[in-house]
Amino acid sequence: MTLLIKGGEVVGPTGRFAADVLVDGETISAILAPGTAPRTERTVDATGKLVIPGGIDVHTHMKLPFGGTFASDDFDTGTKAAAYGGTTTIVDFAVQRTGEVVQDGLAAWHALADGNAHIDYGFHMIIGGVDDDALKAMDQLVADEGVTSFKLFMAYPGVFYSDDGQILRAMQRARDNGAVIMMHAENGIAIDVLVQQALAEGKTDPVYHGITRPSILEGEATHRAIALAQVAKDTPLYFVHLSASEALAEVAKARDAGRNVFAETCPQYLYLTLEDQLGAPGFEGAKWVASPPLRTKHEPHRDNLWKGLRTNDLAVVSTDHCPFCMKEQKELGLGDFSKIPNGIGTVEHRVDLVYQGVVEGKLSVERWVETIATTPARMFGLYPRKGVIAPGSDADIVLYDPNGRTTISAATHHMNMDHSAWEGFTIAGKVDTVISRGEVLVDSAGTYHGRRGRGRYLKRGLSSYLL
Ligand code: URP
Ligand code: ZN
Ligand code: ZN
Repeated sequence: MTLLIKGGEVVGPTGRFAADVLVDGETISAILAPGTAPRTERTVDATGKLVIPGGIDVHTHMKLPFGGTFASDDFDTGTKAAAYGGTTTIVDFAVQRTGEVVQDGLAAWHALADGNAHIDYGFHMIIGGVDDDALKAMDQLVADEGVTSFKLFMAYPGVFYSDDGQILRAMQRARDNGAVIMMHAENGIAIDVLVQQALAEGKTDPVYHGITRPSILEGEATHRAIALAQVAKDTPLYFVHLSASEALAEVAKARDAGRNVFAETCPQYLYLTLEDQLGAPGFEGAKWVASPPLRTKHEPHRDNLWKGLRTNDLAVVSTDHCPFCMKEQKELGLGDFSKIPNGIGTVEHRVDLVYQGVVEGKLSVERWVETIATTPARMFGLYPRKGVIAPGSDADIVLYDPNGRTTISAATHHMNMDHSAWEGFTIAGKVDTVISRGEVLVDSAGTYHGRRGRGRYLKRGLSSYLL
């Protein structure tokens, strides 16, 4: 099937220009001067629309086991919601916990995704038990399985936590096998002390989740991880869900020194705050319990994150999509904030929410595309197959309507959640048409044409940013 996307403005890292995009089967075959294309079997009218590469969300947690329950989206509901929101690729986190075999964890994630995903997907691997076997497994995953990035946790003692020695060993291994270490940087040992002290004082509301995880402890862990990576001969280090000015300053300092250090942030840290959301009356704040927590609005964390996105100290916006319903899930923490499952669901809204930064003059259109699609692809070994509109690349294409309007609500979203962390947010812009490997998944009338199981596993290569 040949398809022509006609009359739009193509946006990529090198700029924006009027062009028609010719698709042959699953791939882009040509970018053509407007009106010069041959006849095709199908035409999509992109007049007035931005034509951008499909969004790539490199931080999702479908069915993540957490706090005695599981993230409420599976690969069916979560990837369908992603598609509605203009994301055509996700990279989800397979999990190895202490005592488990890494390859078993990976196989379990394949079993969750296989036959269920609506869009293409890859896996990172969470290493929750760094030992000799896990280190060997890292080599095998890089060499054979297309898993080229590993997440370690400086938080969650007793669950996913690694101590500094384990972190150093995994970093040394990554240095040798070419993988990227992804770091959850919060000082979990110190946080646990603060959590126990708060609970002993009867401070049980959701807001104390944020108060017991101060931003300085994200900054401290970020500093420590950067030091460990330096000892591991400057192994590539990517900070996930960076939320705090102190952490950003550490990343900026390392990058200024020419270090192999990268970071992402997430929409929740760009828009939401400890006071306005996490501090909502009663148990309402549980909707926004995630780690790191939302930060105070009385310090310029959000402004600094936007600045970091502009200057590339923050290279990527991902969602850390980890949804839990209020009923029977977040409610596990009624009367004890430390038992609230950690996570916020945003996979459907990332493209829109970051576009709002363009509307508000905080990001250029090109930078929007870079942070939501092109850089994620480059960072995690998917480029140029994904993340760019270019001949030979997969035809993962979104038509974005800058004149459209989107209002977010649990009543209309497609994620498997009984609430929205973004209820009532309005976006000046709208995902109009979503195409994945040449197939229209969502048309401009909002009709869904995708299907469960069409998404394919992506064996990823090494990062384009490796030195
Ligand atoms: O609160 C969060 N972020 N939940 C998901 C697990 C993680 O740390 O990314
Ligand atoms: Zn994390
Ligand atoms: Zn996460």
